[in-house]
Amino acid sequence: MALSLSYFLPKLAVCLMILIILCIARTDSEHSCDDNESRLKYTLNESSHCRSVTDSDKHLIGSLEDWSFANSLLLDTFPIDKEKKNYVREVKDAIFSVVLPTPLQTPVKLVAVAHPVLEDILDLHPNVTKSEYFLAFVSGNTILADSTPLSHRYGGHQFGDWANQLGDGRAHLLGEYVNRKGERWELQLKGSGLTPYSRRGDGKAVLRSSVREFLCSEAMFYLGIPTSRAVSLVVSNDPVWRDQFYDGHPKIERAAVVLRLARSWFRIGSLEILAHKKETSLLRKVTDFVIEQYFPTIDPTDKNKYLALFSEIISQTADLIARWMAVGFAHGVMNTDNFSLLSITIDYGPFGFLDKYVPSFIPNTSDDEGRYSYQNQPDIGIFNMNQLRAALWSLMDREQKRQSEVVLRGYVDIYKRRFMELFRAKLGLFGLSEQDEYIVALLLKIMEDTKADFTMTFRQMADLNLRDIENDDIADELWALKDLHAHEQWQEWSQRYADRIHENGDEDTDQHRRDRMNAVNPRYILRNWMAESAIRKAEKDDFSEVRTLLQILQNPFEKQEIAEISGYAGTPPDWAKKIRVSCSS
Ligand SMILES: *[C@@H]1O[C@H](CO)[C@@H](O)[C@H](O)[C@H]1NC(C)=O
Ligand SMILES: *[C@@H]1O[C@H](CO)[C@@H](O)[C@H](O)[C@H]1NC(C)=O
Ligand SMILES: *[C@@H]1O[C@H](CO)[C@@H](O)[C@H](O)[C@H]1NC(C)=O
Ligand SMILES: *[C@@H]1O[C@H](CO)[C@@H](O)[C@H](O)[C@H]1NC(C)=O
Ligand SMILES: *[C@@H]1O[C@H](CO)[C@@H](O)[C@H](O)[C@H]1NC(C)=O
Repeated sequence: MALSLSYFLPKLAVCLMILIILCIARTDSEHSCDDNESRLKYTLNESSHCRSVTDSDKHLIGSLEDWSFANSLLLDTFPIDKEKKNYVREVKDAIFSVVLPTPLQTPVKLVAVAHPVLEDILDLHPNVTKSEYFLAFVSGNTILADSTPLSHRYGGHQFGDWANQLGDGRAHLLGEYVNRKGERWELQLKGSGLTPYSRRGDGKAVLRSSVREFLCSEAMFYLGIPTSRAVSLVVSNDPVWRDQFYDGHPKIERAAVVLRLARSWFRIGSLEILAHKKETSLLRKVTDFVIEQYFPTIDPTDKNKYLALFSEIISQTADLIARWMAVGFAHGVMNTDNFSLLSITIDYGPFGFLDKYVPSFIPNTSDDEGRYSYQNQPDIGIFNMNQLRAALWSLMDREQKRQSEVVLRGYVDIYKRRFMELFRAKLGLFGLSEQDEYIVALLLKIMEDTKADFTMTFRQMADLNLRDIENDDIADELWALKDLHAHEQWQEWSQRYADRIHENGDEDTDQHRRDRMNAVNPRYILRNWMAESAIRKAEKDDFSEVRTLLQILQNPFEKQEIAEISGYAGTPPDWAKKIRVSCSS
């Protein structure tokens, strides 16, 4: 049988683990101050009720009053929409519109905090989360004195078609923070009200989609995948009408707000809108800014800098998508407006992680054509890179345009190389061998035929000693491998795998291989049923499971007792099969 890469790249022609301190998100009942569900509007810049503290070890800032945004590079660099009134419109010759978040009307509650983000990125002491000022800040109910909230104008290709102006329809960029490591981060609220880009939306986000974004962006970070981050999740009782499955049954849900962070929120669509509207000098300005700020390896005086940028983004995007594939992640809405120029994962909507290995898995149940299925992601990457190329077109000369085609074609090789590197590591293999592609492809075929659990297959593979593989001796508790074992080609595969492990050399031991594999194959991912279970409780005002999941997913490679008790490394429960991923968010 001829198996090649094209098997698992159907149409494509073909971690480092971060050690973290477990920071359990504090429960709201522990907070003396957020118990107070008073209505907070733009009135709260007086001192908080909670004590200000500074942690002498980490030099964390103990009070939000002592914390401030940096001077905004975005405001200094780009033209701002002259219209200051907040109504839906087409915006021209501007990159941002100034617009205030809409305060929530009912009491707000801080229900989860990602402490590593709070402390390691924002330099804030955990005590600040107890203050009403912080609560008001992260819910959009107050803005800091030095903040000019912005909504970003962008366009994009949705499901393959040009969609014209889109933009931040419910997000507000509060400001840029430069932390003590010298990193500049953009803080953005999501679910914070209407903007000039809201189109027909209401500017709000519901609790379930906010829980998913909050948890998944953190989970991805700890899986070692480039992503935006989230620091807080706030919920209110403001009613939001949503027809969750677009089936004519709208119901009232609760409004929630997530404060999320990225080094930059610029997207492919940020450039596309300018190219489409022929605002070429602005297009050049944004592109130059992106190069100077985020691509230090590109010389800003190089006449080929736009080609160099394109080439960098091609590699980084191929790398990102290979990483998604290696953890079984499907983004769900890879429109060009949801695709970062920095190749980080952004805009978590109807995403999903594979349970069983079904390459045609489509996380968005309304995506009937499966455009954004798991297996299509590498191809969509090419489509999106082609749109980026079109957006940069007017900045390139004839020769550069020609070369950009060659660069684009290089995507496939870069992707394939990264994919193989990641899967070799998942299998604990050193070096390169001719048979590696076959070994990976055959394993994936067996996994597909037997519908084996993607995550646990790789995780449990590490528990096999070389002798177990050679003798085809699989312990009963390795349930994911038991599924594979029944396949007619399993014997062939395990012999090849055993032979290949021998090529690692004599110094490699079972224990070393196991440690390496366990450092790249997570034991816990945010399975849909886990998110769903936490959301059901959250909708009844119990956020304990959201916080527990956050804690577990901050350490996805380590076996954790509470996770084991909850069955997070076991077969998904029966009810999980019936879950449909919510589409409207
Ligand atoms: C809660 O807010 C109200 C109104 O602002 C205030 O009177 C009350 O003292 C606050 N309670 C606490 C516990 O901070
Ligand atoms: C809010 O902050 C400004 C500037 O820091 C200050 O002048 C003003 O008095 C503050 N308002 C309240 C109500 O504390
Ligand atoms: C944080 O606040 C608590 C009580 O509000 C206090 O006991 C603790 O010492 C504070 N932490 C620091 C580092 O000051
Ligand atoms: C992705 O972009 C589309 C528009 O193309 C938007 O409707 C959708 O909300 C975005 N997804 C997320 C998760 O923000
Ligand atoms: C899911 O797919 C449908 C059909 O293409 C699309 O209209 C919808 O916007 C998608 N959902 C999200 C959240 O993007």
